[in-house]
Amino acid sequence: MTTVRSTAMESVMSQPHTVPPFAVISGAQVQQALQDREKQVVDLVEATYELHAAGESVNPPSYFLRFPDRPSSRIIALPASIGGQVRVDGLKWISSFPDNVQSGIPRASAVLILNDHDTGYPFACLESSIISATRTAASAALAADRLTRNRQRPTRIGFFGTGLIARYIHTFLTAVGWSFDETGVHDVSPDSAAGFRDYLRQTSAAGQITLHDSPEELIRSSDLVVFATIAGEPHVSDPAWFDHNPLVLHVSLRDLAPEIILASTNIVDDVEHCLKAGTSPHLAEQLTGNRDFLHGTLADVMTGRVTPPTDRPLVFSPFGLGVLDLAVGTYVYDETARSGQLRVIEDFFHDLRRHG
Ligand SMILES: NC(=O)c1ccc[n+]([C@@H]2O[C@H](COP(=O)([O-])OP(=O)(O)OC[C@H]3O[C@@H](n4cnc5c(N)ncnc54)[C@H](O)[C@@H]3O)[C@@H](O)[C@H]2O)c1
Repeated sequence: MTTVRSTAMESVMSQPHTVPPFAVISGAQVQQALQDREKQVVDLVEATYELHAAGESVNPPSYFLRFPDRPSSRIIALPASIGGQVRVDGLKWISSFPDNVQSGIPRASAVLILNDHDTGYPFACLESSIISATRTAASAALAADRLTRNRQRPTRIGFFGTGLIARYIHTFLTAVGWSFDETGVHDVSPDSAAGFRDYLRQTSAAGQITLHDSPEELIRSSDLVVFATIAGEPHVSDPAWFDHNPLVLHVSLRDLAPEIILASTNIVDDVEHCLKAGTSPHLAEQLTGNRDFLHGTLADVMTGRVTPPTDRPLVFSPFGLGVLDLAVGTYVYDETARSGQLRVIEDFFHDLRRHG
């Protein structure tokens, strides 16, 4: 018998604790639960950033597992806990194997484990590449909105790196009301750029679509630039390309040379997280020996504590917080349970009597 995950209040009242059923949620089910829910997910991500800023979360540093024999690959563990009304713990375990793309399969694959607040028992394993891309895109859409409220709303967007994350970000932006007069596309892979252009042509909000061979041309012709490459170190270093003070969603984190970071207003999702692992802000900190170039977090902007100036480029570097995966994963779990589609693995936890 399957029961929906108890709410915080129910679990306080339901004593003694019991072992929860363990469910597996497939990518198809995840996609179904998130279909056409972009606005709700952006609201959920916003609420989760607020919760995190209020200290109602535990979000330790991500752990990067790397391999001497496969230096371009990695698997990252993102443990996290959300308090408040949500009360759930868990772990995202996400692989990045860039060579997969040559074989026609996605670079990233992931699972998310949700743990019960009261017993610690894992109660679900969810396919999580969709959840991860969704929370990343929702965060980018939220940032685009919050960071342009005091400046002219961009009408020319440029995608620098055009894989799965770029597609999710475009989908989220348009779903929450953005449309563009011009959409620029740049990728080192002509196939990726062409595939993304074909995707854009099927949408209604892209305006005129231009493929740019030159990265400079893409940046100079965009007032909203989305970086979603897999670059491991900076490859854009001329601050003059940003003279028109665009908003830059620096989702891939390692594209910009420290000189550009230092010439910009910098907003991050979490300071301690973002200044790690060779991100561009981390390189800027190593170069200057201080964090003076950081202006605040997205939550600071949301609450009005920080108002980014409009006379410099504005760079948002989101490290990507495990609490966002937990929040979106819990939403998917609850939706799946509500629709009666939860697939419980009977007897998953076994030998539960202490002395047999
Ligand atoms: N910050 C976050 O929260 C977060 C979350 C998820 C993914 N990401 C990052 O987003 C990035 C994109 O992920 P994806 O799944 O779309 O990857 P992907 O492999 O599907 O696409 C990446 C694209 O970038 C292109 N590219 C690589 N180097 C480039 C360069 N120097 N200039 C132009 N194009 C270049 C590739 O050809 C490819 O088309 C990754 O770096 C990933 O780590 C960040």
